[in-house]
Amino acid sequence: MSSLLKKKIILCITGSIAAYKAATLTRLLIKSGANVQIIMTPSATSFITPLTLSTLSKHPVHTSVSDGDSWDNHVELGLWADAMIVAPCTATTLGKMANGIADTMVVATYLSAKCPVHIAPAMDLDMWKHPSTKANIEKLTAYGDTLIPVGHGELASGLHGDGRMAEPEDIVQHLADSLALEQKLKGKKIVITAGPTYEALDPVRFIGNRSTGKMGIAIAKVCANMGAEVNLILGPTSQTIAHPLVQVIKVTSAQEMYEQAVKLYPEANAGIMAAAVADFTPGEVADKKIKKGDDDLIITLQRTKDIAAHLGKSKKQGQLLIGFALETNDEFSNANRKLQKKNFDFIVLNSLKDKGAGFGHDTNKVRIIAKDGNDQIFDLKSKTDVAHDIMAEALRLGL
Ligand code: CTP
Repeated sequence: MSSLLKKKIILCITGSIAAYKAATLTRLLIKSGANVQIIMTPSATSFITPLTLSTLSKHPVHTSVSDGDSWDNHVELGLWADAMIVAPCTATTLGKMANGIADTMVVATYLSAKCPVHIAPAMDLDMWKHPSTKANIEKLTAYGDTLIPVGHGELASGLHGDGRMAEPEDIVQHLADSLALEQKLKGKKIVITAGPTYEALDPVRFIGNRSTGKMGIAIAKVCANMGAEVNLILGPTSQTIAHPLVQVIKVTSAQEMYEQAVKLYPEANAGIMAAAVADFTPGEVADKKIKKGDDDLIITLQRTKDIAAHLGKSKKQGQLLIGFALETNDEFSNANRKLQKKNFDFIVLNSLKDKGAGFGHDTNKVRIIAKDGNDQIFDLKSKTDVAHDIMAEALRLGL
């Protein structure tokens, strides 16, 4: 566990029975070389004493924003840390973090923190399953925070745990893994296109597609967790992401997406073309709402610009370009043709024949085909795990 050596960790403890495990967690963090500062909510102090934890961490324990001789400790602590862990995290603190209710030192520090935040929830099964808890967790993961599930790794992309806190050993392992991961793309710039495009017919109607952008957003999050600076060019979708390393550029049409991609790609180390870009757009956009008559309506559609093909042509030595192909038949040969034609380094093939793959799902099943002949077929997995596979291939190719 040498990757925790000299790492500055804030451990936040909230009022759950699992707080008794905080002593073991503190010991393990210290043993693996970390410098640990502890913040407790007032109710956590009913489960374990600050004296025990300050003895183990060799630092005073903070329990209130107005602790000691200063009121702005939370800002200093938030800037000091390399990582913040909230373990155990109760439903109450989860809700306060998701909604910015800074009435404890834990939440005040969370809102000031510039470092990655890892949350190990602890609550009973009914509270865990409640839609309010689920919504709060969705918000927190959209902010870029990571859940530490029961049974290491299981919950990274969804709600399948049973609300019990992960074991201290697993929390420390999770932290060591994610701190090591953060170094992998440090200093790299990545441009990602994601989501659908909407092509206007008139002020109220458009031609669109069923893409939700989930795959591209998952890639953006994984890249940012690996330390990359991400420009996410995102078509219209209700999906959100708010990660300090992800700049979201919202666009509507294929033309707008093209303009942003062309502007941003020259500075990037890699472009990942996950958007479902409209191939055609209405030749003319009516400036008033089109009224129906008795006759059929004929709309002429014109080709849009192919963003990926354009970037493929302008690609410089050392830059990577990664494409997607969504196919229903002749999958391999169609994907291969696109790989060559658009000058991708590799292409991620989705088949609509596979259950649980493609638009709208939280899972995906892909085959990654590289220009150098590397060909990998993966099982159905969460889009976050697919994003890890994609980035592993990019790293293999020199990103
Ligand atoms: N793409 C793009 N700009 C477009 C169209 C597609 O950047 N105007 C990118 C997609 O983001 C994806 C890849 O190209 O990475 C998909 O290739 P494409 O040949 O466009 O797929 P389809 O539109 O499905 O093509 P076809 O209709 O020929 O199957």
